[in-house]
Amino acid sequence: MAGFQFVSPDIAVDVGTNNTRVYVKDKGIVVNEPSVVIVRGDDSRKIIAVGDSAEEMIGRSSGNVRIIHPLRDGVIVDYEMAQVMIHYFVSKAIGIRHFVRPRMVVTMPGKVSKVERRAVINAMERIGARQIFVVEQAFAAALGTGLPVYEPQGSFVVDIGAGTTEVALVSMGGIVLSHSIRIAGNKIDEAISGYLKKQHAILVTERVAEQLKMDLPDVLANEELEHMAIVRGRDIATGMPLTVDVNMAKVSEVIRETLKEILSAIKWVLGRIPPELAADILQNGIFLTGGSAMLPNLDTMIASEFGVPVSVARDAGECTTLGAGYMADHFDMLGGTGKGEA
Ligand SMILES: Nc1ncnc2c1ncn2[C@@H]1O[C@H](COP(=O)(O)OP(=O)(O)OP(=O)(O)O)[C@@H](O)[C@H]1O
Ligand SMILES: [Mg+2]
Repeated sequence: MAGFQFVSPDIAVDVGTNNTRVYVKDKGIVVNEPSVVIVRGDDSRKIIAVGDSAEEMIGRSSGNVRIIHPLRDGVIVDYEMAQVMIHYFVSKAIGIRHFVRPRMVVTMPGKVSKVERRAVINAMERIGARQIFVVEQAFAAALGTGLPVYEPQGSFVVDIGAGTTEVALVSMGGIVLSHSIRIAGNKIDEAISGYLKKQHAILVTERVAEQLKMDLPDVLANEELEHMAIVRGRDIATGMPLTVDVNMAKVSEVIRETLKEILSAIKWVLGRIPPELAADILQNGIFLTGGSAMLPNLDTMIASEFGVPVSVARDAGECTTLGAGYMADHFDMLGGTGKGEA
């Protein structure tokens, strides 16, 4: 093919702790799959499944496999598997045929070490990115929510995913103030598992804990809520299958305990808003994005804590990717787009 190359579309890749999403310019989000890889138990170079197909196998496969989550708390912890996974998702999004050095917008948590940041950039370079533009997740989330991030007014966003919570005040195309903590949906699930272990002597899978959280009718529920849920797991002492009745009011109490740290992070940023932007926030309020923003009544809880209006963004789970995608749609207008620059 003398000198001929297929043209790659510009894309945005949002590699999340639990879910990875790929946006293709002018098309939208074309891949949205769990960040998981399954390899052979005795040979981790033998990839068995990635993403959706890996998720389907979990709990159903034979013993000789290993489940790998290449990210933890928002950052890559298994470099090799992250690369395999990202390559698979990007190929799926743009097609192998088109895989000719695409330009990529890549999201990253606000607080990452140089090594963690480098790991993401290297992974993208290794799979063939021609140019990389790094955007902080909170900024992308605000943009994807449709907030006026390029205007000289303040927007306040709280992106609560699976691994990290990103709190940021955004204005004039940048982050004015932010705070990032490694506490989000997964820590809530862990707290629920911990409670069940302690209170009911039952061991449950991450998935059972997460499902219990998703079934919760109201994060503000108190003792008056007479709602019991049936939980299945294993007896902590005997390892035998066990079923217990769990009081959902207690589960919401456990969740609220974990949420305290998220409230502190919000408070930290709220307390430091420059006076010229304070009126905007008081008027427009706080916007919640990320999968965990869908906890029922979390907005009410935060609003009553701080006396500021709070709204859950539309398509909360996809805002970060949509914001990064908007940037991919306008790649030529992104300033300072040297490799790895934000
Ligand atoms: N309806 C719901 N109620 C409560 N939590 C939910 C709901 N739907 C999803 N979640 C939680 O949202 C989280 C996933 O959100 P998201 O996809 O934004 O995370 P991520 O992008 O993978 O992680 P991060 O951005 O932190 O690296 C999980 O913890 C999941 O349990
Ligand atoms: Mg995310």
